Parts: sequence; structure tokens; C-alpha cells
Amino acid sequence: FAFLSNASAQFDANYDESKVPEFKLPDPLKTFNGKKIRNSKKWESRRRPELLNFFTQNMYGEVPGKLEISSVDIQEERKSALNGKAVRKQVDLVFKNHGKTLDFTILIYLPKTEESVPLFVGYNFFGNHTITEDVDVVISEAWARNNPSFGIINNQLTEQSRGVRTNRWCVDKIIDAGFGLAVIYYGEVDPDKDDFSDGIHPLFYIDDQQQPAANEWGSIAAWSWGLSRAMDYFERDEDIDESKVVVFGHSRLGKTALWAGASDERFAGVISNNSGCGGAALSKRRFGETVWRINNSFPHWFCKNFRNYIKNEEALPVDQHELIALIAPRPVYIASAEEDKWSDPKGEFLSALYATPVYNLYGKKGIQQTEMPELNQPVQNTVAYHIRTGEHDVTAFDWEQYIKWAQKFIQ
Ligand code: GCU
Repeated sequence: FAFLSNASAQFDANYDESKVPEFKLPDPLKTFNGKKIRNSKKWESRRRPELLNFFTQNMYGEVPGKLEISSVDIQEERKSALNGKAVRKQVDLVFKNHGKTLDFTILIYLPKTEESVPLFVGYNFFGNHTITEDVDVVISEAWARNNPSFGIINNQLTEQSRGVRTNRWCVDKIIDAGFGLAVIYYGEVDPDKDDFSDGIHPLFYIDDQQQPAANEWGSIAAWSWGLSRAMDYFERDEDIDESKVVVFGHSRLGKTALWAGASDERFAGVISNNSGCGGAALSKRRFGETVWRINNSFPHWFCKNFRNYIKNEEALPVDQHELIALIAPRPVYIASAEEDKWSDPKGEFLSALYATPVYNLYGKKGIQQTEMPELNQPVQNTVAYHIRTGEHDVTAFDWEQYIKWAQKFIQ
């Protein structure tokens, strides 16, 4: 592909509703062979598996095997963190396979209580130390994308970026609401670059294999895999209620959260914040970022088979509303931002709406209005949606809504 910078890609993307092509959305309640699905049993035995298989083989890619945690190393535990209101743990998970090793660190804050607590888990973009001012959070040595405004040069994280992303993680609000928060630096699981010689992928290579096969995992599936391994750890940690873990993610990490929730039913809920193309937004609308753009700018995110749908969205037998439907009947929250046209807010809303019939099979309430809600007016059912004012970001408003919704549907 010719390389397009993100800025120029955004410039010539379609943002005109009248130019959205006509398309027919696949019915989540009709099998690929045209059989109507009438109840949750048939959904689970026939339809859900074929959809999951399609997304696995043709979009995110299959994980080529199983790998258990080789060891859990509690690097540090403090009974009194965040001005005494929380417990802090930094837990290192180590993986070994075919003579190679990978480890990643989960930073965990839990409210102080005798009970096991519900938890939000999610990745961050620039290291665990960016989400809080807490000076005891260890700085990752993994490769990071350069970001001079955070002092990140030579792909190394430093003290200078401590606390630079506190605005995206309302740790105090989360703890005060009785939830724990676990975060992981995504670069420790797979550095976000078009290079399959680093991160988790090589641990699964057979002989002199250099990269995943066409149906095998890209980076989004690799990051999702990491979230599932974090879940393996939560199952062992008595302070965490593993039946109440909500996976959260923003943007590319929102795509990751959706895939983690779809592919691992242990997650009790999913929050997609501005996940856009390849996340909550319908591909067939071709509004903002498209299948072509995303594979062009980020060739490593999806499996190679997904390239068959570049400029060919009409050939897709699925769309992203069916990714959301794979999460049913578990609660899911899709959120957009008004100025984040690149992520196609309307396409994100429609996905939530068109996933709703699957939730209804379980007697769960999804999105009941066909028009998008007003700005900053969340609709919170088992399927929830909001569009807030502002740009592509995670804000206190977003977290306030997620917490409120999770208190109702998860806690
Ligand atoms: C780019 C990319 C999006 C992605 C976003 C992000 O804009 O095109 O698909 O969601 O980065 O992760 O911030």
C-alpha cells in the first residue's frame, strides 16, 4: 500500500452522511445459511459459534495455541496506597514457550475491604506510571512510541511521563465507588509496530516461523490474549471477584476490549470508548476510517485475511454489530465523542442498536430508540451508549457514566 499519514487519511476520509454507500446489514439472527434464530439456545449452539469463527479467522486472527502463566511474581504490595484509601499491587506475569520468555506487569488498586471486589481492567498507551502520580509505580522498560510532549524519545519511558494520563483514569472515583482498577502497559504484551519478531507472537512460532499465518493473530488479538491471561491471574487473587471483571479500552485498546469480551466469556462486561473502525463502528458505512485506511496505516493490527475486505466491505458477511452481539447477554457500553468523526459516532451507535435483538433473546434491554441520543445524555441499559461533547479521549464524564452503569449492571 502507499503509506498515508494519519493526518492526511483523516483529511480525505468521507464525513458526509449523504455519501455513505447503501448497504445491507447482515441479520445477527440469521445464520450464514439463512436459517432464522429464534431463541438463545439456538443463538449459542448455531449462530454465535459461526460468527465468532468468522471474526477469528478473517479479522482479528486466531491465537495459535494455549499458554499458561509460568509464574506469578508479586513485585510489590502496599496495604496503604492513594492516601490510605487503597491497596496497591504490582504483579508480574511470566510466560515461557519454545525457549522464549515474555512478562508483563499488572498494576492493581483495590478499595480497602475484607470482601473480594469487582474490577475494571484495561490497557494504557504509555505505561502504568502515566495513569497516576503515585511515585511507587514501576516504569516499564518495554518499547514505547515516541512522544516528545511526554518526554518519550528513543522509545524509552522515563520519570518525565509519570502522571501524564491521570486525566484518562479516574482512579479515585473508581475506588470510591467500590471497584478495583487493574492496568497494563500494552507495549509489554506486543509493541505497537509492524514487527512480528517482538512481543508475544514469537513465543508461539514453530521452527523458523517469522510471522503469523494469514488467519492468525495480529496485535489486537495479541493484546486481547494478554487481557485473558490477566483474567487467569484475577481468578487466583482472592481480593478480586473474578465474576465481576469489566474490560475497558479506549480507541485501538477499545477495539481490543471488545475482542477480549467477545472471545473470552469470563469478562462480565465490556466498555468501548471511542473504538471506531475495527471496534464498535460499522465497517459498511465507510465513514471516517475505513477497512482500507486501517490496514494501510496499521498493517499489524488484524490478521492478513482481513485485507480481503479492503475497499470491499460489501463482501463482508458480518459487521461490527455482530461483534457486540457476541458479548450478549453480558453488559456492554459503547461510547462516542462528538468531534471524533474519524471513529464514526453514528456507526458506533448503530452497532449497539443492531446488536440489541440478540440481547432481547435473553430478555435483556438494549438500545430501544432508533435515533441517536442527545449529547451528554447516556442511555444505560444492558447495552448502553453515550455520545459526549469533545474530542477523541477518555474524560471524567465518561468514567462517571461507566461507574454508574457498572454499579447497576455489574456490582
Ligand atoms: C488512529 C487509528 C484508530 C485508532 C486510534 C487510536 O487514529 O486510525 O483506528 O482507534 O489511532 O488508537 O487512538
